[in-house]
Amino acid sequence: MKHSSYSKILLLLYKLCISIFILGRIRCTDGSNYHENEVAALLTWKSNIEKDSQVILSSWVSDNHLCINWSGIICNEGGRVSSLNLSDYGIRGTLHDLNLSCFTEIMSIDISYNFSFGMVSPKLSNLSRLTYLNLGFNHFAGNIPPQIGLLENLRVLNMNRNIMNGSIPQGIGKMRYLNHLDLGSNALTGSIPDSFAILNNLEIMDLSCNNLSGKIPTRLGMLQSVVKLNLSHNNLSGPVPSSFKYCFSLTSIDISFNQLKGPLSGLNVHSSFVSNNSGLCGGILGLKPCFSDTFIGGGTGGKSIAEIVLLACTIGITIGIIVTAAVFLGSFLFGRKVRYQKEIDDFVLDYYTRSFIRCTYILEATERFSSKYHIAVGRSAIVYKTELGDGGLAVKQFNATKDPVLVSILAPL
Ligand SMILES: *[C@@H]1O[C@H](CO)[C@@H](O)[C@H](O)[C@H]1NC(C)=O
Ligand SMILES: *[C@@H]1O[C@H](CO)[C@@H](O)[C@H](O)[C@H]1NC(C)=O
Ligand SMILES: *[C@@H]1O[C@H](CO)[C@@H](O)[C@H](O)[C@H]1NC(C)=O
Ligand SMILES: *[C@@H]1O[C@H](CO)[C@@H](O)[C@H](O)[C@H]1NC(C)=O
Ligand SMILES: *[C@@H]1O[C@H](CO)[C@@H](O)[C@H](O)[C@H]1NC(C)=O
Ligand SMILES: *[C@@H]1O[C@H](CO)[C@@H](O)[C@H](O)[C@H]1NC(C)=O
Ligand SMILES: *[C@@H]1O[C@H](CO)[C@@H](O)[C@H](O)[C@H]1NC(C)=O
Ligand SMILES: *[C@@H]1O[C@H](CO)[C@@H](O)[C@H](O)[C@H]1NC(C)=O
Ligand SMILES: *[C@@H]1O[C@H](CO)[C@@H](O)[C@H](O)[C@H]1NC(C)=O
Ligand SMILES: *[C@@H]1O[C@H](CO)[C@@H](O)[C@H](O)[C@H]1NC(C)=O
Repeated sequence: MKHSSYSKILLLLYKLCISIFILGRIRCTDGSNYHENEVAALLTWKSNIEKDSQVILSSWVSDNHLCINWSGIICNEGGRVSSLNLSDYGIRGTLHDLNLSCFTEIMSIDISYNFSFGMVSPKLSNLSRLTYLNLGFNHFAGNIPPQIGLLENLRVLNMNRNIMNGSIPQGIGKMRYLNHLDLGSNALTGSIPDSFAILNNLEIMDLSCNNLSGKIPTRLGMLQSVVKLNLSHNNLSGPVPSSFKYCFSLTSIDISFNQLKGPLSGLNVHSSFVSNNSGLCGGILGLKPCFSDTFIGGGTGGKSIAEIVLLACTIGITIGIIVTAAVFLGSFLFGRKVRYQKEIDDFVLDYYTRSFIRCTYILEATERFSSKYHIAVGRSAIVYKTELGDGGLAVKQFNATKDPVLVSILAPL
């Protein structure tokens, strides 16, 4: 027993010497079997991780065939490592001692769960064939290396639950095939890069639970394939871009726990996913209606004016609600539909429907009463088609040439 283990060690040393000898002469070139330098790189790395973790990788010995017997390794037809999956192995160590330069054909790295601490090496960006990179649920610290943007074939980038800080590199926006981006639960600061707006294949984006600030880039609403977007638990401020309502594929958006302000139009979202923001409003949702106008026009108006407007609106709307209720009661009693019109901002709306719809929404939805949206044109009024509300609303405009313009919500389309 003792003797055989000695000879095993001798054999191992002998093989290591050979592999070191070979490593000195050949580089990572294509071949049939497996690659001695990939083996050597992995064995070197193994020898540098914690002792307990080395036991977990007991199949990683040079006696075993890299491509057949090593756990967590998959090779391609050329015998090159194409996938490294040590997810949930419970290995402790860093990637520093792994010579990444050898793995030129690797396409997938999954070292999520209980793996590593240390920094993410910028050298990862040399693995140009990488399509999948999952470093989630670890203790990676420091910045996301800006060079990561060079991984332009990446489909999945997951760094969820690490302790990474610094800002999100603009270069991630260059990953044109990126489908799933998860940087949630780190300590990232700075703003959401504008470049994300060109990630045309992105379906899932999770940036939740960081310390991101600044505005949500308006152009993010141009993302046509995004399905899930989670920006919750950050420090984002400013308005929610109205362009989001054109993200037709969006089925789940969470912007709760930020400092967002202003109207939310056309987004079909549960109120808990917009909660705990300082000033979000919107009649269409379960939020408070947007009475105050302080956010329009970039906040240039003085506070006192805003307050006067708010007060005026509040009084006006209170009266409006009472009269509307009376009218509804009246129309109920007399069996006919009566419209009530009330002035808000510089336009007049009526509340035929029970929800408050802002004039600015109508302006936006009709592109300032563009003829594009005409359904019917009469002598004294024009009817417009809009995408407001759940399935769209018809809006009637009276006295188009006069000021203020009278607008009346007609009926759901
Ligand atoms: C890593 O591997 C490459 C290619 O085999 C080699 O050229 C380089 O010297 C190695 N680096 C180290 C630090 O071993
Ligand atoms: C390596 O894998 C092959 C094929 O699965 C198997 O026959 C062989 O016993 C394995 N070797 C070791 C040392 O596990
Ligand atoms: C890695 O292995 C884990 C557990 O076996 C699995 O759930 C996960 O999907 C694998 N990752 C990849 C990229 O195949
Ligand atoms: C990894 O961590 C999770 C939660 O911290 C734990 O449930 C799991 O058992 C751990 N896995 C290993 C292999 O240590
Ligand atoms: C690896 O990437 C660095 C920049 O991160 C670059 O300078 C170097 O030339 C790259 N090496 C290879 C072999 O591509
Ligand atoms: C980011 O984390 C690293 C390592 O924990 C630390 O050295 C560095 O000061 C931090 N940077 C910032 C901007 O917080
Ligand atoms: C977030 O970042 C700001 C500075 O940008 C800093 O003052 C604040 O402490 C950070 N908050 C957390 C929870 O990290
Ligand atoms: C968004 O992320 C937070 C924190 O990670 C999570 O609690 C919440 O459920 C997520 N929202 C959605 C809609 O998945
Ligand atoms: C959020 O950002 C503001 C500045 O915009 C800063 O004063 C505040 O400390 C930040 N809050 C947190 C919790 O980081
Ligand atoms: C979030 O909002 C809810 C309801 O508006 C409130 O009860 C809760 O205290 C808020 N939580 C935090 C952490 O502000």
